[in-house]
Amino acid sequence: MIVDRQGRRFRNLRVSLTAACNYACTYCVPDGKRLVAAQDELSADSLVRGVAYLMEAAGIERLRVTGGEPLVSPKLDVFVHGVSRLGLQDIAITTNGQLLSKKLPLLLDCGIRRLNVSLDTLDAGAFRRIARGGDLATVLKGLDEARAAGLKVKLNMVPLRGQNLDQVVPLLDYCLAHGFELRFIELMRMGHLAHDPNGFHQQFVGLQELLELIGEQHPYVQASAPVDATAIRYEVPGQGYFGVIANESVPFCRTCSRLRLSSTGWLHGCLSSSNRHYVGDLLDKPRHQALPALQRLLVSALADKQEVAFSGGVTIMKIIGG
Ligand code: 5AD
Repeated sequence: MIVDRQGRRFRNLRVSLTAACNYACTYCVPDGKRLVAAQDELSADSLVRGVAYLMEAAGIERLRVTGGEPLVSPKLDVFVHGVSRLGLQDIAITTNGQLLSKKLPLLLDCGIRRLNVSLDTLDAGAFRRIARGGDLATVLKGLDEARAAGLKVKLNMVPLRGQNLDQVVPLLDYCLAHGFELRFIELMRMGHLAHDPNGFHQQFVGLQELLELIGEQHPYVQASAPVDATAIRYEVPGQGYFGVIANESVPFCRTCSRLRLSSTGWLHGCLSSSNRHYVGDLLDKPRHQALPALQRLLVSALADKQEVAFSGGVTIMKIIGG
């Protein structure tokens, strides 16, 4: 097991199945362009082998499937079936929900019981302006079906000044009424936002302001969360929970246990580092060759983690999926 001076180790792996997305959210991609050629992406089999090797080499216990948008990938079926046989403690997926209705049977079939759905607004016009793709009603239908199927659903919302702050309480009410846990994600200086401090500060909304907005409508108390959780959790007594991923206001790098594998075969030890480590070639090698080489790269990837706080990253969120 590789552990650093702060006692951190990789425990949670996020695999981006594809960099393709059927949205082009304003805070993620400045334009809607496809950033990676499909031929540069690894096959589903290579990615499954990557997960198996990383379970062994890094002690990965839990997996989250991300993108781009993972449900648009033709690799989804083979990948989720493949990883469902590896003995992971947990497999979850982050999706924008646009294809949820269609893919729900596959996810259920592979033992996926936890879902994060990105939804920044319940207003159809604002939805179109922020996501620049997809359709709000389709997401809501997918969410209803996921709930009916018994999935544990969290919603991700990135609050943005001037765009969806009026939706903080409506989205929370919607989630409380439907038994979903809402996660507010403070805007991160990723990709183009890392190069545009003005754009970032104009849009950024922090923990304190969010809690004030919520507090005007709902009483809340802090609730418990796992040590390596990224979210601070709150309970609205008798109604449910919400969380805030306060990467700026309350940094959580000291307890970060995440490792990321991109669809093109790069390991990222930290979202806030421009370092990445190519493993695409290793994933097609036999275990006895791949593991020692992977272990060396994992030492470097772990050393890429920030000491305390996220300071901005050149990586485009669409490549790595959060
Ligand atoms: N800051 C915060 N969250 C972001 N996401 C994408 N880009 C950013 C950013 N710059 C969110 C998406 C999705 C999750 C995986 O990350 O909305 O919910």
